[in-house]
Amino acid sequence: NQTSLTKISSVNCYNRVVAVRCDFNCPVDEDGIIIDDYRITSALPTIHKILLDRPKKLILMTHYGRPDGYDSKYSTKIFLKTLKMYLNVDNIHFLENGFSTTNSEILSNDSIVCLMENVRFHNFETKPNDNDSIKFHIDIYCNEAFSVSHRDHYSITRMKTPTHCYGFCFVKEIETFNMILKNNGSIMTAIIGGSKVSDKMPML
Ligand code: 3PG
Repeated sequence: NQTSLTKISSVNCYNRVVAVRCDFNCPVDEDGIIIDDYRITSALPTIHKILLDRPKKLILMTHYGRPDGYDSKYSTKIFLKTLKMYLNVDNIHFLENGFSTTNSEILSNDSIVCLMENVRFHNFETKPNDNDSIKFHIDIYCNEAFSVSHRDHYSITRMKTPTHCYGFCFVKEIETFNMILKNNGSIMTAIIGGSKVSDKMPML
């Protein structure tokens, strides 16, 4: 229900520790070059809005691929350069301990923006349980990863924060669904399944 969503546009992030669950799962070639950074650029309006509010910290979280535990091939370090370029900052602190990062590590570095290591390096991301949880405090959690929001993954459904809200892209997806569902059949709608766009294109 769109009306019950708390949108990032209505949340004041000033002096707060804000975590945004993104989907930076971009296609990358064998040389580690990002072929298409659309998934990063589409999260920028949400990231810029939070930065304009002057947060204490902005922590970007994402999955990348489907690793089975730690695998350097799937490190989210690969996104640092592109993020620095688009955010026009010299430094983004990389949180290599992922969910095990401590409050002091987050607060003691000089960068406002932090990028966390791949959330899927932790088994409890994909198989959440009541015993495991992140080791640091977040004031505001923002979901900007609609593409994985059908999954009961820790970073999607289990984050315990005082404020829980949704990014611009997430809200747009819901608005689009609502528009289609409320059109009473006046627009022809095709719902296409398949796990990746590359699966769907030949069929289309
Ligand atoms: C995708 O590439 O479709 C999304 O990032 C979701 O990835 P997943 O299917 O591995 O959860």
